[in-house]
Amino acid sequence: MQNNLQEQVDYYRARASEYDEWFYRIGRYDRGREINQRWFNEVAVVKGALHDIGKFASVLELACGTGIWTAELLQIGETIDAFDAAPEVIEINRNKLHSDRVTYRQIDLFSWEPDREYDLVFFAFWLSHVPPNLVDEFLAKVYRSVRLGGQVFIADSLFEETSSAKNHILEDETNIRQNRKLNDGREFQVFKVYYSPDLLLEKLAKAGFKSEIKVTNNYFIYGSGMKA
Ligand SMILES: C[S@@+](CC[C@H](N)C(=O)[O-])C[C@H]1O[C@@H](n2cnc3c(N)ncnc32)[C@H](O)[C@@H]1O
Repeated sequence: MQNNLQEQVDYYRARASEYDEWFYRIGRYDRGREINQRWFNEVAVVKGALHDIGKFASVLELACGTGIWTAELLQIGETIDAFDAAPEVIEINRNKLHSDRVTYRQIDLFSWEPDREYDLVFFAFWLSHVPPNLVDEFLAKVYRSVRLGGQVFIADSLFEETSSAKNHILEDETNIRQNRKLNDGREFQVFKVYYSPDLLLEKLAKAGFKSEIKVTNNYFIYGSGMKA
């Protein structure tokens, strides 16, 4: 794996036990009651949209992480294949959900080759970590992993300073490399690419999906695409 892609995996491996602090607005991510509530309200909008797209027999979750979204997918899918490159996050996910309907695989998504089709393919806060020169290839693989008539659902970040930790500096939306710190001060670099709805629609159309993409007021871009 390319060094900068490996560094991303190393970051999420090292961050595994503190990852959820970001989503639940704890510690360095706690921005006070009002701003936290804004975040949770917008999370509810994205979760609502996911629950509205239907029920599925087979689901693939890419970059499943610690299970924040796997738990939602269990409510709309019968079986979930959950892939991630970091064994530490897979263990947290497994221990959180204790579900025999989820099958985990440790997989590097840049060398992943789809070997079957699913009714729904889902990934949250992953596309923004895919370097721009690899996005088309990644989405082409996603397309191949969706059955005809099946769907893809994506959720990701909008550029908003209060989204990240208080000691992360978000200075430029167009800078695709960001510095990230762990609670113990260790630092890593990740790719972080912010999509506008138009650009994401264009990328999904190029891959073959007919999509609808929305944004919440501050934090999230989300939506689904159909393989027609
Ligand atoms: C921002 S987290 C998102 C996790 C989860 N989807 C969520 O929303 O909570 C990014 C995830 O991508 C995983 N990841 C990083 N590089 C990867 C790679 N090359 N292949 C597969 N997963 C990778 C990390 O381990 C981490 O779990």
